[in-house]
Amino acid sequence: MPTPLELALTAPKAELHLHIEGTLEPELAFALAQRNNIRLPYDGIAALREAYDFSDLQSFLDLYYACADVLRTEADFRDLMLAYLRRAREDNVVHAEVFFDPQTHTARGIPFATVLRGLKAGAETAHAEWGMSTQLILCFLRHLPEEDALATLAQALPFIDEIDGFGLDSSELGHPPAKFERVFARCRALGKPVVAHAGEEGPPAYIIEALDLLKVDRIDHGVRATEDAALMQRLARDQIPLTVCPLSNVRLRVFEDMRQHTLPQLLAQNLCATLNSDDPAYFDGYMGDNIRAVQAAFDFNTTTWHTLLANAFRASFVPAGRKATWIAALDTHFAKA
Ligand code: ADE
Ligand code: ZN
Repeated sequence: MPTPLELALTAPKAELHLHIEGTLEPELAFALAQRNNIRLPYDGIAALREAYDFSDLQSFLDLYYACADVLRTEADFRDLMLAYLRRAREDNVVHAEVFFDPQTHTARGIPFATVLRGLKAGAETAHAEWGMSTQLILCFLRHLPEEDALATLAQALPFIDEIDGFGLDSSELGHPPAKFERVFARCRALGKPVVAHAGEEGPPAYIIEALDLLKVDRIDHGVRATEDAALMQRLARDQIPLTVCPLSNVRLRVFEDMRQHTLPQLLAQNLCATLNSDDPAYFDGYMGDNIRAVQAAFDFNTTTWHTLLANAFRASFVPAGRKATWIAALDTHFAKA
């Protein structure tokens, strides 16, 4: 009989919290630097990897934005997306809802259309070749003013049918959700789902603001919700999905050790927690690596894995019929236990 770990690794999965810029592996970064005649300030792949020693979210973001400089052309964004989806498929990811940060690129003079067309091309190839489905979630950078986010939304409008949702990421502390109330109201008025990073490094109050002011459909991270009992009850009652990224949280020192992670508490209190990889190239952790690290720390049983992986399909932004098909396939998979 397969072990809970084997069942989890081989199960069909959805990934709901994934920054495409965070999938840039050093090998691809150097290949794109060469293709675009750019010098990366690191003496080779090993030296770049050695820099992946982060003390907090900001120390990671500084490197993440610096490396994104190698992304210049539509082909670069296509290759990035395709490389991620190829790798995710090895972990049996069948559906990915992918964040992208247009401001990181438009600020360098890369047109919005170049970014979007490249990412779409990669997603279309993965769909044609492997049947994988992808959605694109445009994230606003919260360390910049809301006016910049509004200008980015205006740039996105001609492509609105190709954008499946909106999000909020980058430096959390000092940039509460309240700062983005107007732009999120406009995104919702467009009929799009909205999400926001909250309660990663920031306090539970940021999660409450994201719910009350931005009216988000999902919380990205949310792992500090456990510090507020009333908030935990609300998240459980309303089944607000949390897109949890365990290896990211350990690598960015939200938790010193995986055994201190709050994922077991979230699940024990019946929150709709999901498992995701965030920025897998930087955290040494794609979906499968996250599953292995969580299992090493918590030794979840088959029922817990079934719940955790089904939550991701439930929380996805695809139509109900497709969700039901995926959940039925997952149920069949776990019936092997
Ligand atoms: N951008 C990329 N990864 C992020 C994270 N973990 N938190 C906030 N912004 C991000
Ligand atoms: Zn994230």
